[in-house]
Amino acid sequence: MTLIFSIETSCDETSVAIIDKNKRILGEITHSQSEHVKYGGVVPELASRAHLEILQRIIPECVKKSAISIKDIDIYCATSGPGLIGGLLIGTTIAKSMAIAMKKPFYGINHLEGHLISPTFNNNMTFPYLSILLTGGHTQIYIVKKFNHYKILGESIDDAIGECFDKVAKLLGLKYPGGPEIEKLASLGDHNKFKLPHPLIKNKMDLNFSFSGIKTAINLIVKSQKKVDLVFKKNLAASFQNKVIEILIEKIDRSLKFLKNENININDITIVGGVAANKAIREALNKAYISKNYNLAYPQKNMCGDNAMMIGLTCLKKYEHKHKPDYFFKANPRLQIEEEL
Ligand code: KG4
Ligand code: ZN
Repeated sequence: MTLIFSIETSCDETSVAIIDKNKRILGEITHSQSEHVKYGGVVPELASRAHLEILQRIIPECVKKSAISIKDIDIYCATSGPGLIGGLLIGTTIAKSMAIAMKKPFYGINHLEGHLISPTFNNNMTFPYLSILLTGGHTQIYIVKKFNHYKILGESIDDAIGECFDKVAKLLGLKYPGGPEIEKLASLGDHNKFKLPHPLIKNKMDLNFSFSGIKTAINLIVKSQKKVDLVFKKNLAASFQNKVIEILIEKIDRSLKFLKNENININDITIVGGVAANKAIREALNKAYISKNYNLAYPQKNMCGDNAMMIGLTCLKKYEHKHKPDYFFKANPRLQIEEEL
């Protein structure tokens, strides 16, 4: 049986997994680094050091949990970009070294492709499908034509959506990562309390996103508020999250219209990445699109944020599609997904 060992270290999650060729997860350990909480964001140098220490502990633990011997592993892979270079180098070098020592192949995996592949674990989607990638570093709309053929239709021209959740949370004095904190508060607030800008709305063909204006508007609202109490925070969080939902629906609508004009029929829409864990976003998108007969597909909850399972799954697809392994695949903080075409 083909066994794949994978490492994910592109940001502040240190994750390893062992999966088999039937997509069965034999073992998985994801450690979210807590070192960064007191700084309100990821400190790259601390993240690199932590990845090294944590991997040395969780790799043997994961092999043990999987009830296999290291000799049983057939393929090694690691996230090789995009992300923070320190973490990418550590994960890639460790996986490569293990592969070389065990005389087994190594694949460098694109982190974004990992997110795009993540919903295939628990959903059956038909090509071509629309994929909305919502993470701390990226906000992109893709048309996935088939495996390894991804075309970006639109993306953020400034802050990423998750980054915006984190920055708004910081302005409200909430802890990092801000997304889950905002979601909790927003569920208790009135989303009509604050009027926020709706960027890039005028040109109906524009499929790009912009989040920096919303962040600035929220900064101004917080600064002009005399008493930043819990009610204020709940209402502002709700108004922000609701604006994000409006923007997502607007851009998905436009993308579907664009594809229709190109005679490309879409049945499936997938929402992936850390922000895809947000229940209010899921509910709003389900409401907007299931009634229009689209099938909405999400990764399972533990595959929304960064994890090695999605990296192993992507590696399995590469192996099945006869992509060549490569000991010389370099860690690249700006690895582009188009390079995969
Ligand atoms: O995909 P991910 O784990 O890492 C990157 O590849 O960047 O995404 C992390 C981002 C963070 O900005 C975090 O605040 C956000 O996902 N996030 C959420 C939620 N859970 C995580 N944003 C909104 N609502 C959530 N429930
Ligand atoms: Zn990610």
